[in-house]
Amino acid sequence: MSNEATRYHENVHTPTEVANPEAYPPRVVKSYPGAPRHPLPWPPEKSEHRLGRQLAELGGITRAQWLTPLDMLPFTDSFEAIPDDDPLQWLVTRRPTPSGGARYSAEWYVIAGPDSEVPAGVYYYDPARHDLVRLRSGDHRSWAASRPATTILVQTNVFWRLAAKYGEMYYRLACLEAGIQVAQALVAAADEDATARLCFPDADLTELLGLDPRSEGVHAVVELVAPVPAAFEGPALSAFPRAFAAHAAVLTESRPAPQPLPSAPPGETERISLPHAEADLRAGTRNRRAAMRGFSGASMPIGTLAAILTAYGRPVRWDLPANLVEFYCVIADVPGVPDGAYRYLPDEHQLEPVGEGGNPRQVLREASLAALTQQGARTANIWLLPVGDAEAAEERFGSRWYRVQQAAAGAALHRACLAAAAAEVAGRIQNDVLTHLLDGWFGLDGRKRSLLVAQFGTEHPAGPRPEFRLTW
Ligand SMILES: Cc1cc2nc3c(=O)[nH]c(=O)nc-3n(C[C@H](O)[C@H](O)[C@H](O)COP(=O)(O)O)c2cc1C
Repeated sequence: MSNEATRYHENVHTPTEVANPEAYPPRVVKSYPGAPRHPLPWPPEKSEHRLGRQLAELGGITRAQWLTPLDMLPFTDSFEAIPDDDPLQWLVTRRPTPSGGARYSAEWYVIAGPDSEVPAGVYYYDPARHDLVRLRSGDHRSWAASRPATTILVQTNVFWRLAAKYGEMYYRLACLEAGIQVAQALVAAADEDATARLCFPDADLTELLGLDPRSEGVHAVVELVAPVPAAFEGPALSAFPRAFAAHAAVLTESRPAPQPLPSAPPGETERISLPHAEADLRAGTRNRRAAMRGFSGASMPIGTLAAILTAYGRPVRWDLPANLVEFYCVIADVPGVPDGAYRYLPDEHQLEPVGEGGNPRQVLREASLAALTQQGARTANIWLLPVGDAEAAEERFGSRWYRVQQAAAGAALHRACLAAAAAEVAGRIQNDVLTHLLDGWFGLDGRKRSLLVAQFGTEHPAGPRPEFRLTW
């Protein structure tokens, strides 16, 4: 228990008071008046411009929803957060990725090399205009690249947008959203061999992007390698497995995978094997949205559960250990799986019962704050709760431990949200659950904590709201 991140983790679980909310501007898009701009083709999905499409799928303004104050009541429990000037016609713009309080604090920058689809330089992606603002010209990839990347995407967070609503808790949400953004980027840019890093020279990149490091944090780097022209393929070498393995061993050593963290031995309880199921996460990026009215209370088939859990625990192409978080969940009303709390084991694709029994819905309801979350406790089928061990993470990552652990949690939940969306299952990430109240029930010891919740189930019949796709 040494560093600032550790003290923060122990003390900040819920929003803290913001003494002067009026001091924060309502703008949630940056502007660089007078800076040169590079246009990107619109609509992005109709063009061959990979970078333009990827940026729209990450941070673009892609959806518009029409809400009324009554729609907001289950989240806010009061009308106080509703603007008074025109409270009946409230059009909100939305993005492909979820965002705490829809504050959209995540931003994307681009470091383009000479083989990129835009001239070499450093750019800010402007989601309002869907274009790139040029901040520097020339090739600056060497500050960010760990591979022969053609283009590098850099994810930052404008802290005050979250601080205006959540006070001290802004840092927690910024770190969670870094994971969400990276998870989306790895799906959206899979055809460019995307890999991500959460450990990189932060100070150098902040300087390169010209940011004030106290107010905008650089959280992740995504490296893209554009494909080269296809060559004539020779015959497969599977007939010569010993030679193939000897060669492959050298390749593996040249780019070693992150070492796993020490993990607890498997429990003694009898596990439940799940059916094989894969979800098309890319398809999920097209229709993911947060459920507005909770769930209907219908039961969920075990195949749907299996697809969501597969995505939750799926290994990620990044510089963090695959077991930086463990994949806990609570399940109710899924035929074939007794109601209860479990640890999902991705390698075995099995559920290991944890905790002390009890009525899961009741336990979740007692930990839930807002009306919507409580409704979810009564009617959802799955609650995912990634669990992190602060001690093991701190030992490996120093002060960065908190940031990467929260990112791993955010990424795991977002993958599950994409899988759910692909299966037309409703979901919502909920930060207003007192997760520390569940840790004892899960039987967590030492400095292991559950970090965040997402709920999933059949959408409530009154859930869908008028929503327009602004692109694709
Ligand atoms: C880190 C994080 C925490 C969130 N916490 C809550 C929450 O406590 N309650 C809630 O109703 N929604 C929560 N949400 C969902 C957002 O409100 C939602 O993503 C946002 O309004 C944008 O809507 P969309 O997801 O449909 O694009 C959270 C989302 C994120 C990413």
